[in-house]
Amino acid sequence: MPRTESRAAHREPACAPVAPSSSFAVFRALNDPALGAHAGHKGRIDQRALAAVRGARLEDKLLRALVAREALPAKEVWESFETFARARRVLRGRCVVDLCCGHGLAGLLFAVFERELEELVLVDERVPANHPAVMAALDEVAPWARAKTRWVVQGLKSALPALPRDGAILAVHACGVRTDRAIEAALAARVPLVAVPCCYEGTAQRAPSGLVDALGVVLAVDIDRSYRLEQAGYAVRWTSLPAAITPMNRVIVARPPAAARGGVTLGSNAGSPRVPGPAGELR
Ligand SMILES: C[S@@+](CC[C@H](N)C(=O)[O-])C[C@H]1O[C@@H](n2cnc3c(N)ncnc32)[C@H](O)[C@@H]1O
Repeated sequence: MPRTESRAAHREPACAPVAPSSSFAVFRALNDPALGAHAGHKGRIDQRALAAVRGARLEDKLLRALVAREALPAKEVWESFETFARARRVLRGRCVVDLCCGHGLAGLLFAVFERELEELVLVDERVPANHPAVMAALDEVAPWARAKTRWVVQGLKSALPALPRDGAILAVHACGVRTDRAIEAALAARVPLVAVPCCYEGTAQRAPSGLVDALGVVLAVDIDRSYRLEQAGYAVRWTSLPAAITPMNRVIVARPPAAARGGVTLGSNAGSPRVPGPAGELR
């Protein structure tokens, strides 16, 4: 794993994962504890990550291209791939919107791997400095992704009303109340949502104090969010990321009523068959 910073930079905040850990689904070599132990490393990804990359799949090529540029912190790379693996079956259709996207890799993986996707909208109040390096890696191995991608450099409040109504919503570590804004946006448009919440101070809605007392604020808030979605007819499932990547590892997967009933996709590709990808690739 990455060489960079001091030992201090290797340490995650000393907090227990909010959800049970799960296995690495994309780079399975990371399930070897010796390799996976540093998946939460916040230094730039470098040659040492290649120990987890064994093949010639598109995801392997993309990983190598990211490593060649030391494009992102290692943690962000593994987190993006693992989130995508859990979100892709739900966030299907013409458009995906990645809210508070940061470097945008989680959303960009939809533009790389989902042939049905016509538009990826990346929303953040700023474009991070390493975004060009991420795009250069994509251009090398998935040149079709850039043309599908649109940046909206705005705060959520002004951006949300103007976003495509059919955009399935991804919100990875959209801190605190921003996860609630993502949920509200999904509910208003009746689109699927995948959220990986973090920062439980300052959420939009106070969870019942009895739940907070009994379960702690983190669990209580996510239960409250899940009830909010279920009450609107959504089918809600919880899954998780490998805890070695991040302790903020709960993934809330929410399908709106139509999709929950019939597995119908959104947007102009609704109901179209899935296109199988090249053997072994992330499809
Ligand atoms: C913890 S980072 C998560 C980034 C990315 N989704 C990820 O998982 O790596 C939170 C992001 O939210 C963005 N952000 C914070 N407040 C925002 C707002 N009001 N509107 C849009 N983006 C915001 C920040 O710029 C930052 O990129």
